[in-house]
Amino acid sequence: MFPMLKKFKDLLSGRIEGFDFETQLVKVDGQEFTLRKANRKDSVQFMQVQESIYPIPVPWPIDIVEMEIGNKNALYLSLVDKDRVIAFIGLSLSDKVESHITNLAVHIDYQDVGIGHLLLDQAFKYCKSRHFTKMSLEVDVTNKDAIALYEAFGFKVENVHKKYYFRNHHDALEMMADL
Ligand SMILES: CC(C)(COP(=O)(O)OP(=O)(O)OC[C@H]1O[C@@H](n2cnc3c(N)ncnc32)[C@H](O)[C@@H]1OP(=O)(O)O)[C@@H](O)C(=O)NCCC(=O)NCCS
Repeated sequence: MFPMLKKFKDLLSGRIEGFDFETQLVKVDGQEFTLRKANRKDSVQFMQVQESIYPIPVPWPIDIVEMEIGNKNALYLSLVDKDRVIAFIGLSLSDKVESHITNLAVHIDYQDVGIGHLLLDQAFKYCKSRHFTKMSLEVDVTNKDAIALYEAFGFKVENVHKKYYFRNHHDALEMMADL
């Protein structure tokens, strides 16, 4: 089969190749969740997570979400409560040395119990086990909660990108951590 056609068929069927991740049962604050690799069918629930925390229009429209979940150079993890995706994290893994957090979002109803910590912890473990030595990200300079979380994981500001976000023209901090 032509590679493009195969890719298209895989995308339609929700089958994604690329980075593997073994599904795990995890506990946060006494509650059990499933942590697994995201698939294309999760995209609607990724939108619901975003809609619970951001004003409309949310940062990533559904076509970007679908494209990213299908991106072979990235890994998206879904945290699932029963059948509902309540948080996700995305990693760009195209560089051999530096992994990059592309997105991290926890549904408003599930924040402040340790899920952000869990997802970052899992991202660190995964990238270390695959011999990445650094992790980077960009965060809105006004997003104090996220910045505090990243600092707790050793991220430090490397650079400031002026007026980086097109929605609000806020600056972005480029942060980096050693793994
Ligand atoms: C930023 C965000 C991902 C944090 O997720 P979260 O699940 O609320 O984060 P956590 O619960 O792990 O940590 C937040 C606080 O909860 C508290 N907490 C409560 N129980 C906890 C536990 N068992 N373990 C760890 N922290 C706990 C801590 O006080 C922690 O604060 P700290 O930074 O002082 O450690 C979330 O607020 C979010 O989705 N925000 C909107 C999207 C966003 O801004 N994403 C980042 C884009 S760069």
